[in-house]
Formats: sequence, C-alpha cells, structure tokens
Amino acid sequence: MSEARRKAGDLARESLANNDPTGWFEKLYAQADGDTGAISWADLAPNPNLLAWLDREKVVGDGRRALKIGCGLGDDAEELARRGFLVTAFDVSPTAIDWCRERFPTTTVRYVVHDLLAPRSEWECEFDFVLESYTLQVLPAEVRAAAIPHVARFVAPGGDLLVIARGRETTDPPGAMPWPLLRAELAGFTKAGLEELSFEDFLDAETPPVRRFRVHYRRP
Ligand SMILES: C[S@@+](CC[C@H](N)C(=O)[O-])C[C@H]1O[C@@H](n2cnc3c(N)ncnc32)[C@H](O)[C@@H]1O
Repeated sequence: MSEARRKAGDLARESLANNDPTGWFEKLYAQADGDTGAISWADLAPNPNLLAWLDREKVVGDGRRALKIGCGLGDDAEELARRGFLVTAFDVSPTAIDWCRERFPTTTVRYVVHDLLAPRSEWECEFDFVLESYTLQVLPAEVRAAAIPHVARFVAPGGDLLVIARGRETTDPPGAMPWPLLRAELAGFTKAGLEELSFEDFLDAETPPVRRFRVHYRRP
C-alpha cells in the first residue's frame, strides 16, 4: 500500500471515530500542502473509465449543464468542459477547490465548495449530465445511503447520471476505504426516480485490476 493511501486510511479512521465522516478530506488536502503525490486518488488525468464511456457513447456537451460531484483536483470536470459542457464542480474540501482554481486558472468550470450531504435546493433537477465517480466509495455505507438521493436530485428531467464506483458481492467483506459498493445499494437511484439504462460490472485496466460498476441512469 502506498504511503498516500495509508495516510488517507488513517485520517478516515480517525474522522469516523469522531463521528465526522467527511472531515478528513479537508485535512488530507491541507496537509498535502500542494504535493499531488500525497493524494492517493490524484492521477492528474481524467478517469479512464469515464473517457471510455464518453467516447463509446459519443457524448457531446453542446452547451448543456454538467455537474461533477466530489471533483477532487478537477481533471474529470475539465474533461467535461473540454467536451463542450457548461460545468459546475464541487467538493467538500475548500483546499481542493482552491487547488483546482490554481491548476486551471483559465477554466470555464465553476468550482464550488459544497457538501453533498447538505442539499442545495437551487441545484435540484438543474443538470443535464451528472457525474459521480469515486465519491460514494469513500463514504461509509450508512452515509452513502443518505447521499444517493441527493445525487439523484441534481438530474434534470431527461438528464443523465453516470456513476462509477468500486463494486463487490454481498459475500465479499466490506474491505477498507475506499469501500466497494454492493449493486443493491445502487437501487437507491431508481428509488429516487431515475431509470437505469445500463449497468456494467467489469475489471478495469489498473494493476492489479479493480472491479468497477459503471451505471447510466436517466430521469424520465
Ligand atoms: C476519492 S476522491 C475522488 C476525486 C475525483 N472524483 C477523482 O476521481 O479524482 C473523493 C472526493 O470526494 C470529496 N468528497 C467526499 N465527501 C464529500 C461530500 N460529502 N461532498 C462533496 N465532496 C465530497 C472528497 O473531498 C474527494 O475530493
């Protein structure tokens, strides 16, 4: 395990023990002090499982409104902007949001500090494309269950949601952070009024490969 991953795990454990499931993200980004190597998920490139999907589905933004949830250092948000979306991207960590603005000083992306767990009514049904990649899996199961309807609420009528997450079987142990999702947990999206258009369960190209769920939803 990398030093960065170990550090994230330690901060997550400490935060959870203090009943604060999201407090550790800001600590991690702030303690990194500008060193991207200290953030275990910072690839400084868009998520390849997102790129493959956008290419395959021939997605063109065409000025439509997109929202990136838990944007981290901003690479996925920038990719959506590059493909023609008008992008809003948020993260619970103010340091991460400042970091995005520093990395992409001329960006068209609107970077915002926001907590997914504190619903923002003006964003309800506002976005034509919502991207959730790798945020749910860093939230413990009970918090994730509360977060899923909030994610669904951002999607406009006729709009799409793409969820990419680690996946596991009910018979697999929950594992350590990042905690893989059960397919059954994703039922929260259809309960929240979205239609599941496709569900993919695959091993990605990482070494060693990681089991991922990639799910496409639409609000009727
Ligand atoms: C594993 S990182 C993934 C970042 C980015 N999506 C990527 O793939 O590089 C999860 C991100 O979600 C953010 N996050 C966690 N809980 C959040 C919440 N409740 N509201 C908003 N952002 C949150 C964290 O600060 C972190 O940047």
